[in-house]
Amino acid sequence: MLTALCVSLGAQAPGVPAATRTRVDAIAAEITPALIATRRDLHQHPELGFRETRTAGIVADRLRALKFDEVRTGVGITGVVGILKGGRPGKVVAIRADMDALPIQEAIAAAYKSLVPNVNHSCGHDGHTAILLGVADVLSRLRAEIPGTVMLLFQPAEEGDPDGGKTGALRVLEANGLANPKPDVIFGLHLDPQIEVGQIGVRSGPAMASASRFTLKVIGKKTHGAMPHTGIDPIPIAAQIVSAFQTIPARQIDAQQPTVLTIGRMSGGNRYNVIADMVEMEGTVRTFSADGPETVKTKMEAILKGVTASYGASYELNYFTNAPVTFNDPGLSTASIAALKTVFGEKVLTPQLQMVSEDFSYYQQQMPGFYFFVGVKNQARGITAMWHTEYYEMDEAALAIGVRALANVALDFLSR
Ligand code: NI
Repeated sequence: MLTALCVSLGAQAPGVPAATRTRVDAIAAEITPALIATRRDLHQHPELGFRETRTAGIVADRLRALKFDEVRTGVGITGVVGILKGGRPGKVVAIRADMDALPIQEAIAAAYKSLVPNVNHSCGHDGHTAILLGVADVLSRLRAEIPGTVMLLFQPAEEGDPDGGKTGALRVLEANGLANPKPDVIFGLHLDPQIEVGQIGVRSGPAMASASRFTLKVIGKKTHGAMPHTGIDPIPIAAQIVSAFQTIPARQIDAQQPTVLTIGRMSGGNRYNVIADMVEMEGTVRTFSADGPETVKTKMEAILKGVTASYGASYELNYFTNAPVTFNDPGLSTASIAALKTVFGEKVLTPQLQMVSEDFSYYQQQMPGFYFFVGVKNQARGITAMWHTEYYEMDEAALAIGVRALANVALDFLSR
């Protein structure tokens, strides 16, 4: 269930003092060359999920050098958690960055190109890690005036376990990684090649889709291709199932609840003159509601039961959800968006819902969270490639913007 907990907003919430905001901006400007250098170093040495040992080592060393009160390593296999206690008592805020790269061969010609064949930061998590290290720098310098505690989480394997196991957020939660002290809220961001650099994308409520994955077997009975009536042919049955599935998003779910049901692979049969014994399919389901994944699964099962029973066939459905919907707590979103607008003015925009998913959503099931987008696109410089492509690149001016944004929403929460 999505948390319905809202963060209360004092009507006369004090917010971050203007002098503090100015200092955050000044420090972010000062450390911009270091942010870029860190990002480029991580970019040259990308690591797949649960293998981020070099990255985690750099993160832990940096947090220790910044005199964090505690630095925990090996959290959720390769994650790092840093605890910074402010000079004044208060609440606990968590900020998360993901550290993993993708199994993609980079195709851009930058001087800081990935040195690892077939591994690349094609989702920009090198930037996320550099930004959170920048936030660590900023907040450690402001420590004396921070009312509360800051927990920085450097998470492994957001893109999933390369060996097919659980995603990084689940591993972190299973390892009790977001505890001692338990955060009151959590923040995170994604660099976004759909948004022009300088701009920030924010949404209250659903922001990114849930992602479920399924495999399906339609089981018939093999026989001679000339005598189909003596067997059960799963191929026309599978064809009916594929068509009927499309009535789920198109005709069975409210058109105002965006839903995608994709069959990405389908195969079956043995030979041109043999009736197949089985057809296999796999696909993905995307929704924007807490119960969306189960609702779609129930409707898929109804179709599968009805269609296969009509022909004496059977089926096996294996359906699991990789990530629930990324749901931004409305109260926390309202306050955080206001804080961002104080700093970035009309550069704060509302982007479309993202059909892609984020395992940050698991944290939002445990505590109110706010996840937003920082533009890295630069049309004039030709930086437009999408996430997960071999051409993905970022305008690095986004790094300092990310630092300012995360530091401000965190300080704003603690100041309320
Ligand atoms: Ni990503």
